Amino acid sequence: MLFDAPDFDAHEGVHFFDDPASGLKAIIAVHSTHRGPAAGGCRWWTYVDDEAALTDALRLSRGMSYKNAMAGLAVGGGKGVILKAGYGPKSEALLEAFGAAIDSLGGKYVTAEDVGMSDADMTVISRKTKFVSGLPVSGGAAGGNPGPSTAQGIFLGIRAAVRHKLGKSDFAGVHVAIQGLGSVGGGVAERLAAAGARLTVADIDEARAARMAASLGATHVAVEDITRVSADVFSPNALGAVLDADTIANLDVAIVAGAANNQLATPADGARVKARGILYAPDYVINAGGIINVVAEYLGDGDADAVASRIAEIEPRLAAIFAEADASGRTTDAVADAMARKLIGR
Ligand code: NAI
Repeated sequence: MLFDAPDFDAHEGVHFFDDPASGLKAIIAVHSTHRGPAAGGCRWWTYVDDEAALTDALRLSRGMSYKNAMAGLAVGGGKGVILKAGYGPKSEALLEAFGAAIDSLGGKYVTAEDVGMSDADMTVISRKTKFVSGLPVSGGAAGGNPGPSTAQGIFLGIRAAVRHKLGKSDFAGVHVAIQGLGSVGGGVAERLAAAGARLTVADIDEARAARMAASLGATHVAVEDITRVSADVFSPNALGAVLDADTIANLDVAIVAGAANNQLATPADGARVKARGILYAPDYVINAGGIINVVAEYLGDGDADAVASRIAEIEPRLAAIFAEADASGRTTDAVADAMARKLIGR
């Protein structure tokens, strides 16, 4: 069943952990260690069944190989998923058991936060393994909450797209529609507003959207309207799979560039976006700021200033992908995938 799974991509290892004593049920997928230890967060999530959890681990770990390679990091790609509907609540015993599970892989996999996991959880995991990042930090050290680093990369990536598609090197008069104003989207909105962009925003947390719109001078629209706003840029910073046949048909923008993971609902949607003449910034290239920060913390190979200069490379990296897509007639996501596979020796 595993080798035939649609998302199995010659993963180097897929490890299953079942520990009734602590309540841990988890999968750790190591996609590639070609460039170094397989780095990627751990997700605490409710899955409809075990197969859905496996699919997520396989897909997300491959995604991390691509993301880390394209960010120029000396790490491979992996992902952990802990089944929320396993045995019970997220206890310290469960997190320690997950730490021991990571440790048993001897450094092939290094974890960090993902959906449902906090830096406090990483601290508990670190009691049992040193192969953990995303721990609380202070001063000018790299690491900690990845949101601001991701937001900075998104801001620079939008600038690369605006320059390529609209021929503008600043944000004066550029209209950006932002979906989601959380840890990343909020930071993107602040940076764009400070740079002179005109903003339209939406968040299911209406009070938050209203508050941010007022403080940034943005227009606030209903959640269901944000993908139809007539603007220069649509920046998805909430959900995955936001670009499907329906939303793409209704987009009224020149550029899609945002942080959400797996924005293209299906592989065909990259071609749909291109057919509409819309420039798409591949999600795993533009949203790498957070992992750049966390990996610097783990490898200990740079402080906050070094992280900032690595994040700055997202802008020329995207510019190169856009140019290559234009020259070859391929979609931007196909160009990025080909570059990533080459970097991981596939
Ligand atoms: P978050 O949970 O802090 O913020 C998400 C925001 O989106 C919340 O304010 C939420 O109310 C809002 N939201 C949810 N559904 C919505 C909808 N249907 N319409 C409008 N707003 C909606 O999450 P965070 O950390 O800001 O991440 C945002 C996206 O970026 C996620 O897809 C995440 O996977 C991705 N990402 C985040 C990274 C990070 O460093 N935090 C790194 C790479 C990707």
